[in-house]
Amino acid sequence: MKRIFSGAQPTGNVHLGNYLGALRNWVALQREYESFFCIVNLHAITLPQDPKILAAKTRELARIYLSVGIDPNISTVFVQSDVAEHTELTWILNCSARMGELERMTQFKDKARKQQEENVSVGYFDYPVLMASDILLYQTNLVPVGEDQKQHLELARDIAIRFNRDYGQTFVVPEPFIPKVGARIMSLADPTKKMSKSDEESEAGCIMLLDDADAVRRKFKRAVTDSGTEIRFDESRRAINNLLTIYHLLTGKSAAEVEAHFSGKGYARLKEDLADVTIGFLKPIQERVRGIDDDKLDAILKQGAEKAEAIARATLKHAKESLGLVGARK
Ligand code: TYM
Repeated sequence: MKRIFSGAQPTGNVHLGNYLGALRNWVALQREYESFFCIVNLHAITLPQDPKILAAKTRELARIYLSVGIDPNISTVFVQSDVAEHTELTWILNCSARMGELERMTQFKDKARKQQEENVSVGYFDYPVLMASDILLYQTNLVPVGEDQKQHLELARDIAIRFNRDYGQTFVVPEPFIPKVGARIMSLADPTKKMSKSDEESEAGCIMLLDDADAVRRKFKRAVTDSGTEIRFDESRRAINNLLTIYHLLTGKSAAEVEAHFSGKGYARLKEDLADVTIGFLKPIQERVRGIDDDKLDAILKQGAEKAEAIARATLKHAKESLGLVGARK
């Protein structure tokens, strides 16, 4: 069976963009692949975090993975900091990655532009190498992510190819899986920007998976729309296209069915229907999140970490041998 690895950061709140761009596909693919889904808390600390909140969000994110349909009996769910090999391989890959490659990462460039570069942590700069380690440790074939992670994926591939060339075949070169529809869900408040949990000012444009019905209604009601009145898929009308994409993915109706449903109707109706569909979709997920008790969660994460560690250890050992990193301990 081929392998999947993917992860999300336990910062802020999980939103519909995370679900439609990534988590939804993890669920859909988990039966065809041996799957590893990680809560990447070491990525989270590249920006300052409140320790109590980070700990709580780590567990909340694990509950969300399980509640959207990740089955712990067939997939491995674990917390990144539980498997020390991730950080050890990062050091090794740091010596293969190039400064120039990391400086070209748009996520880093955006951050460096917003803050002064001297104030961005070294960890933030190095973030894509930790991500490459996550992926390469599991000899991953496929990485299902949203469009914003594409560049990081390409870097992981480049690092794997270079390492294999210089030190012999060690890592599987991973392929990205970026869905044709839903890979870039836009903010409801500003359809030129992606829906994002890190952007605090964009709360209003971001539907969280744990939002209550009132919040969902309010956010859709205030959603920006385009000029014109026709409700149909049209890439050039970003706001409506985004709303229809969400409707299409949540209902499973085809694009033609969605357009037929809204034919002759106005934006107010579109927003109401979207709110109804979203609330109906979120309700059972939220109930499941509340239903997972601490003991059950601990058992799943512990088992996940053990399974992940066994594979990570074998890959790390291979990488160390490839490099000639031999000491007294086997
Ligand atoms: P993160 O936590 O920012 O996002 C988790 C996943 O959600 C996707 N995503 C979106 N998809 C569609 N529309 C949006 N508006 C949207 N916003 C986010 C992301 O593309 C991602 O797939 N670096 C990663 C986490 C990571 C990782 C990995 C992923 C660490 N190691 C190894 C894959 C493999 C991140 O910060 O994702």
